[in-house]
Amino acid sequence: MGEASDKSSPPSGWTLACALERLINQGMICTRVAGTDLILIWNDGRAVACERACPHEQADLSLGHLSQGRLVCPHHAASFGLDDGSISEGWASRRLRIYPVRVEQGYVWVQLDASA
Ligand code: FES
Repeated sequence: MGEASDKSSPPSGWTLACALERLINQGMICTRVAGTDLILIWNDGRAVACERACPHEQADLSLGHLSQGRLVCPHHAASFGLDDGSISEGWASRRLRIYPVRVEQGYVWVQLDASA
């Protein structure tokens, strides 16, 4: 992303995802960071980064909606906790990958090599 090409980076392993102001204004942003499709969500005063494809049958979770701190899949309506990626009861699929996020210098950074 060219918007922060002149910004100094946080410690190694962190990758720029988007401007914090843009995330706050839009609430949800789809982006591709280092070859990984992500959804960035502004939820309850904090930034969350998660994978974009539903772990069940890969529906596009950016077409879903938020409900009580959970991201609801638009296809079969399983939901995922934004804190730990936990899937709603009754589903055999794995949890959603939630990536570590930090906000620094007015930008949102993600750590792609570690998922909760
Ligand atoms: S594809 Fe998301 S719940 Fe089935």
